[in-house]
Amino acid sequence: MSRAEVFAHPLLRVATPAGWIEAALALPDVLLTDHANCEKKAASTALALMFAYAEDLELTGKMSRLAREELRHYEQVAKLIQSLGVTPQRLAPGRYAERMRRLVAKTEPRREVDLMICGAFIEARSCERFAALSPAIGAPLSDLFQGLHHAEARHYKVYLDLAGRAAKRAGVALQARVEEFAALEAELITSPDSVFRFHSGPPSSGSGG
Ligand SMILES: [Fe+2]
Ligand SMILES: [Fe+2]
Repeated sequence: MSRAEVFAHPLLRVATPAGWIEAALALPDVLLTDHANCEKKAASTALALMFAYAEDLELTGKMSRLAREELRHYEQVAKLIQSLGVTPQRLAPGRYAERMRRLVAKTEPRREVDLMICGAFIEARSCERFAALSPAIGAPLSDLFQGLHHAEARHYKVYLDLAGRAAKRAGVALQARVEEFAALEAELITSPDSVFRFHSGPPSSGSGG
């Protein structure tokens, strides 16, 4: 049975397409370099949320721990990049996070709900991709991805809890909003993408990475 047939996730609607896994196995340098960027971005997003919601000590405490953990992930990936002799390079981000962010409300209190939902999806997709890649990619990446998969599963739940809390305070129907993000997320994961990145869709024909 294929992964897609058995796929069931509390948040994500679709499994990573086989075409993306193939591209990841063919482009390990880009995969690792963009993965390192994702860890930095995850830490930086958590810090930004600490400034945006500075009066909320529960949120700032959770985001502080998250930022530290994401930076430790960055250091693990950076170490591997160095030991594997991957040439450091600057990579522009893909479409995924930017397109998800476009759906985020511009004004409070809906903005906080959306930012937390958005964080939950990004973490959940990372978690799903680590699990999908781990058995296919071989050592030493498989061990790293196996460990990170568990961390990202915790992270998406942290964001989802914060989303639920913010939604309750704001009088927003959480599930309906989650569904809107889920639909966009599934579209970004399954539609052809001209650039290969950690959160990209399957490569469009002719995209060389
Ligand atoms: Fe991480
Ligand atoms: Fe994370």
